[in-house]
Amino acid sequence: MIRTIFWKNDTVVLIDQNALPLAERYVACKSYKEVIFCIKDLTVRGAPAIGVAAAMGAALGASKLPSLSPEKFRQKFFAICDEIAQARPTARNLFWALERMKKVADLKHGESQSKLVRTLITEAKRICSEDIEINRKMGKNGSPLFADGDNILTHCNAGALATAGYGTALGVIRAACEQGKKLHVYADETRPVLQGARLTAWELKKEKIPCTLITDNMAGFLMCQGKIDKIIVGADRIAANGDTANKIGTYSLAVLARAHHIPFYIAAPVSTIDFSLKTGEGIPIEERKSEEVTHFSGVCSAPGKIKVYNPAFDVTPARLITAIITEKGILQKPFHIAIAGLK
Ligand code: MRU
Repeated sequence: MIRTIFWKNDTVVLIDQNALPLAERYVACKSYKEVIFCIKDLTVRGAPAIGVAAAMGAALGASKLPSLSPEKFRQKFFAICDEIAQARPTARNLFWALERMKKVADLKHGESQSKLVRTLITEAKRICSEDIEINRKMGKNGSPLFADGDNILTHCNAGALATAGYGTALGVIRAACEQGKKLHVYADETRPVLQGARLTAWELKKEKIPCTLITDNMAGFLMCQGKIDKIIVGADRIAANGDTANKIGTYSLAVLARAHHIPFYIAAPVSTIDFSLKTGEGIPIEERKSEEVTHFSGVCSAPGKIKVYNPAFDVTPARLITAIITEKGILQKPFHIAIAGLK
């Protein structure tokens, strides 16, 4: 299995997703600031993986604090968590994981600092191992939606690399393949950062799951040609009504899917749901640097000083989503009721 993130000798080890597919190498973060840098520069990316990295980063930060009074320790630890929370704005899992770490710190407040630090490290490791279990459950729940011979389209990377392992959307595909179904996956390249071409195609090839790479603007034509049976993607944040933020380009796929009567599925853990947001309108959408659009592999492909708009995510309205696959089961419409039932 691909190891995306793990704790080793007081470092947070991450597979360098910027180096893939050309090189398979790991980065060892020795401080929480290095973890923040890796989240920002996409060395680690994908909502659940960002959550695990944040939790481990917080534990790492706690482990480096000097000896303090319980009150001061709490204050410093919370400040570290708040700093990590600034790394990226959209993925709900980042905030969810940090809230969980803060809760543990509060629960164990007053314990000796060394014991509390050990507890925080254990909690971060637990968030990591639980994520893999959750993905396997999601795979089991979602796999009956796929039939032998299906051609599935996916966007971005919602695989082992985007999680602690196994994947969300790719986890469902993986589970169906493990059950002996013969699936074929079309992977959107996913402009501008190419998570589909660099990461999804790499993962599927490694797993020997048949895959064809297409550019984003080909998806509609393939649907029109009857080449796509189902679409499945991951999520960065799901509002209480089912509106879903995911990688830019997801919304266009959902509109195309509706026009061609193709089922459109989301696969995400419950930790991606933001119960506090009534609709997707409140989801903060990250805007990334213009070079992601003006440059290709470091080479400029646009006129100098051109104005650029580069939102990293879009929001797909619940009405365009067929069902949401979670570890607790498949959520059907009306999503606001199904989601409220998860609380
Ligand atoms: O900018 P990224 O690469 O972090 O965006 C990731 C996505 O949009 C994924 O599809 C999403 O996080 C789901 S991953 C299981």
